[in-house]
Amino acid sequence: MGFENLVFGKQDAHQLLQQYGSPLYVYDEEILRLRCREMRNLLSYPRFRVNYSAKANTNVGLLKIIASEDLDVDGMSPGEMHLELMAGFLPHRITFIGNNVSVDEFRYAVERGILVSVDSISQLKTLGPVNRGGPVCLRINPGIGAGHHEKVVTGGKEVKFGIATEDLPWAQDIAAQYQMTITGLNQHIGSLFLEPDAYVDAAAFILQTAASLPTVEMVDLGGGFGIPYRHGVEPRLDLTELGTRLDTLINEWVERNRPLTIRTEPGRYVVAECGALLGTVTAVKENDNTVFVGTDIGFNTLVRPAMYDSYHEIDVAPGTERPYEEYRQPVYVVGNICESGDILVHDRVIPRCKEGDALIVHDAGAYGFSMASTYNSRPLPAEVLITSEGNVRLLRRAQTLEDLWW
Ligand code: LLP
Repeated sequence: MGFENLVFGKQDAHQLLQQYGSPLYVYDEEILRLRCREMRNLLSYPRFRVNYSAKANTNVGLLKIIASEDLDVDGMSPGEMHLELMAGFLPHRITFIGNNVSVDEFRYAVERGILVSVDSISQLKTLGPVNRGGPVCLRINPGIGAGHHEKVVTGGKEVKFGIATEDLPWAQDIAAQYQMTITGLNQHIGSLFLEPDAYVDAAAFILQTAASLPTVEMVDLGGGFGIPYRHGVEPRLDLTELGTRLDTLINEWVERNRPLTIRTEPGRYVVAECGALLGTVTAVKENDNTVFVGTDIGFNTLVRPAMYDSYHEIDVAPGTERPYEEYRQPVYVVGNICESGDILVHDRVIPRCKEGDALIVHDAGAYGFSMASTYNSRPLPAEVLITSEGNVRLLRRAQTLEDLWW
């Protein structure tokens, strides 16, 4: 947290805002490629594939880079699958991992040859008539959950996801009724772990489950790989330790059982750190010894802090030349939305701000733009890429007021 004019150490924040408007999402190609490669090299096990979980960010420009790094992809809806196909992913590189979807959505995937995962007996019965004789994956609930907030824990009791393992014989019966073959098992225990234990335990559980399902040839261990949002405070996830422990588990399983393809499903890890959100300080005021720095970054643009109390580092790019100074009292950085929960930064020591300063919000590439809305009828911002050569390329233009009509 400090004064910083350059985004990713490469481009001037004010110049970018001037050219593309404020607020603005900026992505860095080099960081994106680095994170893709780290995920791809997680395991030394040879039949290992990474499915990027596109809900974190579906910008087609980024999807193309991810495709070129030889990651596969999962889709949660026809919209995501459509964008993935547009980005060049062939159907066999896509898995539809839906939840409570309609028969038409299943049909969209099946007609295109996209593998479908269902996460309830009810959904398996809906899929059956449109996927007769086809393959199917089952999403199990391993009874283990993890995550940075209760809203993103997706395994364990009292969450809506997954088939209980006790119900697997029933699922086998339903699949047989429609001559469907259960070719894969998948799971996702939750989003953002920085310690490997829960993920490794859940991996052991799903592998054990796969042992008793002889038609299963692919096991997807899920996503959730965390990034250190608090710079210099949180440690990075130890991928070497995680990879070694997973490799051991998988190799032992394969020796005892049969060949298997292993997948993971990271979203955040791939795209969070390659994205920064820029905005502008529009007002500064003091109420009762509390400073409010008003900006154009409302929760319509980045909802994570309002929705999960998430922490994002911010830097200030001063609009005027002046010496560095910090506030000595509580500061709230807030947005331009008509709700008091529209808070980007809570009670943090930050540099003294002035109207016209720019803000750089870090690690905003995952669940940033993809969760943005037009609440209060504010158009969606533009997205640009700083390419590996250092050039800036527009990936998506900002919406205009006219776009709000449709
Ligand atoms: N697979 C499935 C089935 C998922 O539901 C998710 C995320 C992922 C993979 C990818 O998880 P990741 O690797 O990104 O943790 N909006 C929240 C996160 C919600 C995650 C939803 N599911 C946030 O901003 O923190």
